[in-house]
Amino acid sequence: MKNVILDCDIGVDDASALIMLLKNQQKVRLSLVSTVAGNSKIENVCNNTIFILRNFATRWVSVAVGASKPLYGERKLDASDVHGEGGLGGLKVEKQSDAKFTTEVAEEKIYKILSSSKRKITLVAIGPLTNIALLIKKHPEIVKKIAKIIIMGGSISGIGNITPFAEYNFAWDIDAAKSVVESGLKIYLSPIENANNMPVCDDEILASLKDAEHAEILKKIFLNLQDGSVPFGFALHDSCAAAFLLKPNLFKTLKCDIKINNDKKDKRYGQCFCEINKKGKNLVFVPKNYQKVKNFILKTTFGG
Ligand code: BDR
Ligand code: CA
Repeated sequence: MKNVILDCDIGVDDASALIMLLKNQQKVRLSLVSTVAGNSKIENVCNNTIFILRNFATRWVSVAVGASKPLYGERKLDASDVHGEGGLGGLKVEKQSDAKFTTEVAEEKIYKILSSSKRKITLVAIGPLTNIALLIKKHPEIVKKIAKIIIMGGSISGIGNITPFAEYNFAWDIDAAKSVVESGLKIYLSPIENANNMPVCDDEILASLKDAEHAEILKKIFLNLQDGSVPFGFALHDSCAAAFLLKPNLFKTLKCDIKINNDKKDKRYGQCFCEINKKGKNLVFVPKNYQKVKNFILKTTFGG
């Protein structure tokens, strides 16, 4: 059984990733879902997280509230044009009860879980990396309790989805991204090309939907989405990180060095890409067969 902490900014594709993990609670022990602002403001992200857990968890998972803004400065990026006003597409989520949150802030709760665990834990980070950067900054020794970190962010080619060069999660808090990349953690990166090469369209979602009760919720979240960075359909980026955790054999991993541009004067500010290199310190993973990964994501997110 893998011990896992999910750090996310739910978000449509984050919701798919969380549902995928919740449908595999017999394989993956999810110790915590920590939230971070990103696709939407932190209040919405927290609300959405509780909503998804209430509807899809077979065992309750603790939730911690994380960063509402980047390490330095204020929140500048918002993805409501892609993820909807509240972050879950066309679904309006009513206010969930605060009683479901732990009272500790995300990085302290993550620290507590890591430090009291006998076994190393895998982190899956599918939002801006602010919480993880704060964890490492406050508790640098804790990296030895982290088995690996699977991150959705950056690209292989250097192309972006929020600027021509920058990918959303890394650009949202480039300083946090830099400090995590330079922390010595074993990083497995899911770049934007993974999901860009297998956008999912409404017909495929409808064909995969089984369970009547959840189908109505899933339709409201996942149908009729617009994502300007792919020519048709919607790119489920974070689902690729969940797929890699659950079925690593569907992917090949390549050694790489991750390059980050945090020079505010450079037009490529926010860019993060992998330089594939046999001696590289990090790893980037790509599907061996895109259709097989897409089928797995569709089945696990939308199937009964
Ligand atoms: C990433 O940015 C967010 O909008 C998505 O949830 C995903 O984590 C893709 O660039
Ligand atoms: Ca995300």
